[in-house]
Amino acid sequence: MRNTRVIAFANNKGGSGKSTSASNVGAALAQSGMRVLAVDGDMQMNLTLAFMDEEQALTLAQSGNNLYHVIRDGRAIEDVIVPTPIEGLDLVPSSTLMSGIEFDLFTKWQREFILKKALEKIKASGEYDYILLDAPPTLGGWVMNIICAADFVVIPVEASPWGVFGLANMVDFIEQVRGIAPQVSILGIAITKADERKKYFKETAAELRAQNAFPLFETMIHTDSAVEWAQDQSTPVVVCKKSSRSAKEYTELAKEIHDHVCR
Ligand SMILES: Nc1ncnc2c1ncn2[C@@H]1O[C@H](COP(=O)(O)OP(=O)(O)O)[C@@H](O)[C@H]1O
Ligand SMILES: [Mg+2]
Repeated sequence: MRNTRVIAFANNKGGSGKSTSASNVGAALAQSGMRVLAVDGDMQMNLTLAFMDEEQALTLAQSGNNLYHVIRDGRAIEDVIVPTPIEGLDLVPSSTLMSGIEFDLFTKWQREFILKKALEKIKASGEYDYILLDAPPTLGGWVMNIICAADFVVIPVEASPWGVFGLANMVDFIEQVRGIAPQVSILGIAITKADERKKYFKETAAELRAQNAFPLFETMIHTDSAVEWAQDQSTPVVVCKKSSRSAKEYTELAKEIHDHVCR
């Protein structure tokens, strides 16, 4: 029986590396022998597309076997889990219909806890070491559901001036959600798309290191074309290009995340 930990990858800034990080950290944890359930909470379906091609993803989206129907219609999440080609890693796919989820949540009783309740049984079953939740780039009722369902939040931040701009908002939002979900805490901030050649990267990295309001992971993920190549192959870079810089870094980040969780 495993002690299942739920980690949300969230940041209201789009393009900060949430889906790339959730898919690669998930795959790296699975490669190290852990059982992982990746849950795609974004209508853009990027986490789903990290593990299968567009045709398969759209077939699942249209079939009703996806997270949208779990949240809107109360389908059991266990019924929409699909295996991925990566051993030890399963997926709850998303659907483009997730674009309407805020509206669907609005009329529900205890609407902040729909995802938490949907995950209760699978969490208690001890089937997984980790459940990873990929959040969309918003801060509404749905992301509140994601934070409420989590034990920890990892905030991927792109090392750029605009990347850091929204961080305080995100941290405030989590702090507010903690009022109704006191179990959740910020596990750490992960710097993504790092590029040492850029002056602003050095400045933002230094700025993030200097603050001590929130923990910062030591491992940074550098900009690496292997990430995009891997996404084009519908396979995380830690699986299809193990020797690339980003693959090694994501493997390191997964270790760091696991260490922090177990601390
Ligand atoms: N380390 C990286 N190197 C190169 N490109 C990256 C890297 N991380 C993410 N990307 C690219 O940046 C874009 C945004 O990443 P994504 O993970 O989708 O962010 P989010 O989920 O926060 O919106 C994607 O096109 C992705 O391919
Ligand atoms: Mg995303």
